[in-house]
Amino acid sequence: MPKPTIEWIGGVDGVARIIDQTKLPVEFGFVDISTADEMFHAIKTLMIRGAPAIGVAAAYGMVLAVARGEFADASSYEMALAQAAVYLKSSRPTAVNLFWAIDRAVKASLAAGSAGVSAMKQALFDEARLIHEEDRVVCRKIGQVGQEILPDPARVLTHCNAGALATADYGTALAVIYRAAEMGKTISVYADETRPLLQGSRLTAWELADEGLDVTVLCDNMAASLMRAGKVDLVITGADRIAANGDTANKIGTLGLAILACEFGIPFYVAAPASTFDLDILSGDEIPIEERSPLEVTEGFGRRTAPHGVKVYNPAFDVTPARLITAIITERGLIRKPDRDSIARVLHRR
Ligand code: MRU
Repeated sequence: MPKPTIEWIGGVDGVARIIDQTKLPVEFGFVDISTADEMFHAIKTLMIRGAPAIGVAAAYGMVLAVARGEFADASSYEMALAQAAVYLKSSRPTAVNLFWAIDRAVKASLAAGSAGVSAMKQALFDEARLIHEEDRVVCRKIGQVGQEILPDPARVLTHCNAGALATADYGTALAVIYRAAEMGKTISVYADETRPLLQGSRLTAWELADEGLDVTVLCDNMAASLMRAGKVDLVITGADRIAANGDTANKIGTLGLAILACEFGIPFYVAAPASTFDLDILSGDEIPIEERSPLEVTEGFGRRTAPHGVKVYNPAFDVTPARLITAIITERGLIRKPDRDSIARVLHRR
């Protein structure tokens, strides 16, 4: 079982302990996060990343923002809670789990309002714990549902990191692979390096190899050649936000893979929890796409690889249209040919 990327240590006034993913694969270590500012920084700098893990981290960030505070009355507590929500929501824009988890935590805390400030703090903490615990169960269910589409043997291409490091348990896309391995299926994984921050080679290859799974790293621009050589049976990626019509935002480069998979007749799957769907937006055109620092492209990992002053295009995510997605693997079942109707049908099933 992979190591948990986030844990809570102590009670309502405790701390969050995270694996610092920016150090992997060279160093493996934990950092204790004890304030909302530290959590904001950890999310923004990708010490903790991946949509479901960001959601859990943000919920704990809300606890850190208010749990140790002294509040004269309920309304000053509620004001602090609202400010913390706005602040933590500004850490990253694309993964909807961040907003979903914060809103859920705030709602639970306010619902306990009549019982006083310490009851509201306790309700906030309990909800953060529940969000964390639920994601564990969800990962396991996604892993199981994914077996419907995973042959034995299978060669799977994945992108970015949608594994244990990105969730509360063993992932979304990688949950399907971990579960298959548990069941004795013969699975080999190709992990796209995932420019510019290399989540595929630094994180996916690290966690799969650590679990003894067969993994091969390739640079992003080698995927077409790999597919043409007939070495990929299916593609599975994670997601950061899925619109009501099935358009899916995920790590930059996912769209290119989906187009390639279509060209080569290879099934393209997305694995994601219900918390990654944003049914309030009609299509992927409405998904906010994070633009990150040019330095990630021009001097990633401390070495300059482009001339000083050159202009840089660095969106962190792209949107894959639903028509290129064979199915979405969720904890509530498989959504084949995702569209408004098929998504609504499966998500409303509990
Ligand atoms: O910028 P990141 O590393 O947070 O991007 C992560 C991804 O795009 C993942 O594929 C996605 O969040 C799914 S994680 C289960």
